[in-house]
Amino acid sequence: MITVKKKELLAKEVGRLKLQGAQIGFVPTMGALHHGHESLIFEAQKMCDAVVLSIFVNPTQFNKASDFETYPETLEADLQRAERLGVQIVFMPDVEEMYKGNLVVNSVDYGPLTHSFEGQHRQGHFDGVVAVVRKLFEAVDADCAYFGEKDLQQLAVIRRLAQEEFAGLQIKGCALIRDVDGLALSSRNVRLSQEERVKALKLNAWIHALKHTIEAGRSIESALESILTAVKNEEGIALEYLDLVDPENFEPRRSGTDRGEAYAVVAASVGGVRLIDNCRVLCS
Ligand code: PAJ
Repeated sequence: MITVKKKELLAKEVGRLKLQGAQIGFVPTMGALHHGHESLIFEAQKMCDAVVLSIFVNPTQFNKASDFETYPETLEADLQRAERLGVQIVFMPDVEEMYKGNLVVNSVDYGPLTHSFEGQHRQGHFDGVVAVVRKLFEAVDADCAYFGEKDLQQLAVIRRLAQEEFAGLQIKGCALIRDVDGLALSSRNVRLSQEERVKALKLNAWIHALKHTIEAGRSIESALESILTAVKNEEGIALEYLDLVDPENFEPRRSGTDRGEAYAVVAASVGGVRLIDNCRVLCS
């Protein structure tokens, strides 16, 4: 495994692999690696000959300075894990290499996809995500890039970015990985106390309650109403949203003519730690 900090060297190393006929799989991350990230690497290894992993805590996608400042960093352990997993190249640029002194990013308008839910509650978040992922896609020049369904809206935004600007690049969505107790794995989970972790499990319970109620035949509106009533009485959890959405455009799904696949999505803070979760719901 080699680690590179400069785009120029990265291009050289990727070019060398491509000359040997290798298909390149790219897994972008912000580090503090866990089994969710590992699963993306495994998916990449199934289809590609070589994996490029990037580790870069992107300042422009954090809408709260405190979240950026306390974002966990475990670089030494991440590199050991990547090596053990058989990653060929780790790209770990610094802020200067990525942004060349200009941290102002353009705003991105993909309609509700960038302006609802995560886009609404984290102003400017997707502007930063698109800015950095565009730079990373340009730098890595991969055949396939792997993103987790954990960040379902991000995945849809990236699919749109690729469709508009990176025609040759395939975007692969990978299943959300949970801890044994059901908590969606996230780098931020290490900031939860034991007590907060128990509270955090409610997010998974709520979206699955919504799923089961709708799949049992209750109308979407009535299922949402009863779950939201229960959620309001919950102490120690600051709910941002809990809803049912179309996974392609992130428009809310409601009763009546809506048919087929939808996702229950939730975002809330527990002890100041922001968490998101989702699950698939079949609406008939
Ligand atoms: P990060 O939060 O480090 O996540 C990197 C990738 O791992 C994302 O595609 C995310 O969806 C996936 N991932 C995280 N937790 C997961 C889980 N429990 N199950 C499955 N996949 C999971 O997402 C980012 O970084 C950044 O926004 C990035 C795309 C790197 C741009 O800065």
